[in-house]
Amino acid sequence: MKVLFIGDIVGSPGRDMVFDYLPRLKRKYEPDAVIVNGENAASGRGITKAIFDDLLRAGVDVVTMGNHTWDHKEIYDFIDETDSLIRPANFSDEAPGQGMTYIERGGVTLAVMNLHGRTFLPPHDDPFKKADDLIKEAKERTPLVFVDFHAEATSEKIAMGWHLDGRASAVVGTHTHVQTADSRILPEGTAYITDVGMTGPYDAILGMKKEDVIYRFQTNMPVRFQVPKQGRAQLNGVIIDIDNQTGRARSIERLMINEDSPFQS
Ligand SMILES: [Fe+2]
Ligand SMILES: [Fe+2]
Repeated sequence: MKVLFIGDIVGSPGRDMVFDYLPRLKRKYEPDAVIVNGENAASGRGITKAIFDDLLRAGVDVVTMGNHTWDHKEIYDFIDETDSLIRPANFSDEAPGQGMTYIERGGVTLAVMNLHGRTFLPPHDDPFKKADDLIKEAKERTPLVFVDFHAEATSEKIAMGWHLDGRASAVVGTHTHVQTADSRILPEGTAYITDVGMTGPYDAILGMKKEDVIYRFQTNMPVRFQVPKQGRAQLNGVIIDIDNQTGRARSIERLMINEDSPFQS
């Protein structure tokens, strides 16, 4: 099974990149499943029902989330009504929604899991223990397990990659919005990358208006960061090929589309 994963979609520039490039990426790579991180899809903060529906209509199978999950209150109204959106599994037991879902394609099942780091981030439940429990549950249905680990620290993400090597088909990092060049297949067959990167404004700082971010660094004054509506945009993702029998990854390829590295069809 081939999986296309697209890193954190930021605001309308990010959404437009997905709508624009997803058909071309599908033609080129013929993925069986498309997963995107949508935690910043609504103006950089959370997701709305309309945006979620647009992403599904564009050909997305599952949307994963992160620390911005609850930023748009609307999510409380629909998160329990869909199997196509998951939030970090190691949030409190009180949190609505679910942390794992499944994609079925031609008799093959892929489990998709979302986890949240807790280094330099709020102290959620232990993501390593949660991963162990959910993988046990997923393995009763399928050997194919995809993990989006939404975390800040590179070390915590690398640790999760090694922790799940041979048990997950893929562990991809999200949240830092900068694609790392360390994609690889770990020895026991887990495709790994520390961060997939971000899909949104290209001439910005992690997807936010650069002037605002610079001002905050200079002055330490509160500023509400905005997604620039104009300007160039980028798409970051990975394509992972997984063996249907063993659940081991065969390859992981980084996707970085922007004006300096244009899409090759
Ligand atoms: Fe993000
Ligand atoms: Fe995040």
